[in-house]
Parts: sequence; C-alpha cells; structure tokens
Amino acid sequence: MTAASTPPCGPRTARPARRLSGLLAAAPDKSVSHRAMMFSALAAGTSRITNLLESADVMATARAVAALGARVHRDSPGVWTVTGDGRWSSPAAPLDLGNAGTGVRLLMGAAARFDLEAVFTGDASLSSRPMARVLDPLAAMGARSDSRNGRLPARLFGSSRLQPIDYAPPVASAQVKSAILLAGLGAQGETIVREAHATRGHTETMGPLYGADMDAEPDGAGGLTVRVRGGRTLTPHDLAVPGDPSSAAFAIAAALVTPDSAVTLTGVMDNPARSGLYAVLREMGADLVITPAGACAGERLVDLSARSGMLTGIEIGESRAPSMIDEYPILAVIAAFAQGVTVMKGLAELRAKESDRLAASAAMLSANGVRVELGADYLVVHGCGAGGAPGGGRVETHHDHRLAMSGLVLGLGAREPVTVDDVAMIATSYPGFFGDMAQLGAQIT
Ligand code: S3P
Repeated sequence: MTAASTPPCGPRTARPARRLSGLLAAAPDKSVSHRAMMFSALAAGTSRITNLLESADVMATARAVAALGARVHRDSPGVWTVTGDGRWSSPAAPLDLGNAGTGVRLLMGAAARFDLEAVFTGDASLSSRPMARVLDPLAAMGARSDSRNGRLPARLFGSSRLQPIDYAPPVASAQVKSAILLAGLGAQGETIVREAHATRGHTETMGPLYGADMDAEPDGAGGLTVRVRGGRTLTPHDLAVPGDPSSAAFAIAAALVTPDSAVTLTGVMDNPARSGLYAVLREMGADLVITPAGACAGERLVDLSARSGMLTGIEIGESRAPSMIDEYPILAVIAAFAQGVTVMKGLAELRAKESDRLAASAAMLSANGVRVELGADYLVVHGCGAGGAPGGGRVETHHDHRLAMSGLVLGLGAREPVTVDDVAMIATSYPGFFGDMAQLGAQIT
C-alpha cells in the first residue's frame, strides 16, 4: 500500500486571473472513497475499487482497515483491491486517522460490532472535534469506550453482541448516521436512524451493493428513516467512485467569479443531499449547465459547465444546510462577488468542522475587504457587485483544506492577490487541486 507523493505546503498566493477555461474530470469523491474502503474491508472476499480518491484522509482509512485485518493493495493509480474475511480484530497499535472526521467516526461504528479493542487518534484538529455524538449511541448499542471528554484519543471496546437501537441524532450528521448503521450491520435485530433533515445517503446506497440488508425511506418533508437488519455477512463488490461535488465546487466557483471564464467538470456525483450549492448558484443567477452523464456506485453523474457572470445575493435557509454543509466557505467567496446581500442561516455545525468554518469564513472575507455580519449560527455577506472583491489580504486557514482552497479562489477573482497561510491540508481531500487549477490557467505561486 502506498500513498500519493509529497503534497505542497506553506503559504501560496493566488493572483487575479482572466479567462479561466478548460475541461476537467472531477476529482473522486471523498465520502464515497472512505465508505468503499470500509465496506470492502468488511466483506468476505476481494473487492476492487477504481477511481479511489488517493487523498491523505482516505489513505488514513486504508491504513486503518489494514490494521484491523483487511488486505489492502494499490494495483495502479486509483485502482485498489481490498480483501476481507468478514471479521475485524484488535489492531496492534493506535489507529491514527489524521484529519479525517469521516474516517474516524465511521470506523468507530464499523469496528464496534467486533470483539476487539482499538484506540483511535488524530491530528490536533480532529482531536478537538466532538466524538460523543458517535460514541454515545454506540455505547447504547453495547460498545463501551473511554475518551478524553468525548474527544480523541478514544479507546473503543467492540462487541459481537450489539443491541439494535432506534435513534434520532440530535445533529444533522451523515457521519453519525453512518457510524450507527455500520455498527447495526452486526446488531441482533433492526437498527433504525431517524433524520429530521436527510443527510448524504452514501452509506445506505452502498450498503446493499455489498449485500447489507438496509433501506432508506424519505418522510416527504425532508426527513429520512434508515433501517439496517444485522447479521448478514457482507459480500465483495467492484465499484467505481464518482466525482466529488464538493471538490468540483472550487473550479466552478473560480469560473463564476473570474471574468470571461468557462469551465466544465465531468463525472460529478449528482445527489440531492450533496448538490445544494448548485441549486443555490442557479437561484443566484449563475450560468450553470447541468447535463446527465450516466451513473456509478449507485449514484447519478452529471457534467457541470459554468460561465462567469454577475450573480445576485439570496437568503439560504437552515433546512438547506445538510445538502451543502461543506460548501459554505466557497459559497461565502462567491457571495462576495454577487450584487446584493447573501444570508446563510442554520450554520452552527460549521463550528465543529476541521476548523470553526463559520468564524474563519467571515475572517477570510473581512481580511480581503468584504463586509460580513457573523452570528452564532449565521453569516451575512455584502456582495461587492460589479467592482469585484478587493482582495489583497492574507487568509488564516486554521489548517482547514476547504478554507485554503476557498481563499485561493477568492484571489483568482479579486482585484488584488490573496495569500493563504498554508496549503498543506488541501491534500486531505483534493490532492489534484493545484494541477487542476493550473490547467484552467490559474496562477497560484
Ligand atoms: C461527511 C459528512 C459531513 C461532511 C464531511 C463528510 C460524510 O460531516 O461535512 O465532509 O462523508 O459522511 P457531518 O456528518 O459531521 O455533517
């Protein structure tokens, strides 16, 4: 098993661009890549994953499932075979998931159903993020844990005799839902997760592909009930990872805010629980053409073509947040170039991401001459309209990949260059970012 080459690190400056153009294959999806690695490692037999995202986060998951007992092999770039025997056992050393919230939370759920003991650790950012939201329901199922006040490091004591639960997560979180479902694969009966606002459903889409007895039922009012009946041995499956709508958002945003630009991203996953940003952009008046482009891994694909043009600020209500939870930093950047005010509500969860993304997004814009209003759970951006965002500032990324990429896109569209303090974390989700932006004609030095 080998990971990708050494990523760029340190500060980078994006210079105002003109005419970004080109066609890019969307980077592979991070959420689907993590899940494909885990389901393949849980199955009895050999699965083949193609177009796997070889980012630092996914590589941490690959190393962890190998330490739990699966055989993981990189056949060629993006093509991996994973062989499991339907059982995980105690790893010899702590499992270090680095920066990966999805990796650690889903793995805790997946590991909880085996008779094993495992310590989960992560970097400083991951160690500051809440884990009780996963550890508490797992404890209710019968998997005890010791943690540092609901934070990492956490020692999990799995059990092959988990009890099913009927659970309504107090926060809209696909990671919480997925951890419970993965534990429920081994529970003695039916585990139910009831979401008031449906979050991304990749776990319940992928589970049945690997033979899991799992289904999801929308309630017609934006909520979702997912059920899994435990006890089945998972079967191997060959799967191709679709393109990541969250990573695609950066090139699309760059095209929207940079004069005379036209960019196409191919093979982007089109999932209503992930594509909230694209619906919002159309409401803001973006020239965004969405063309069906087939399907893979149970997900629909589209090609996205964006052209620059003036957008108009809108109000985005709380109920839309789960469908675009990772896209607020880049939406804040786009809003800075719009005419009028963009109001984003229901953003408290952004404070529990890789950084406090709500405060950091506001600070990014303020440092670059854009007026914002920041509340406990909302952000208001006063768009600069035809004059464009001033730029000229430095962005503190707080080691957050999405802030680093957002800050650089801001610099491409702004009147003055924008510097971000460190780009190292971009490799956690989108190692091809710099190559892709250069291909479009962006100057980032
Ligand atoms: C993810 C769920 C989201 C998202 C993260 C990926 C997933 O987190 O922010 O980048 O793959 O399930 P939450 O579940 O904490 O909202």
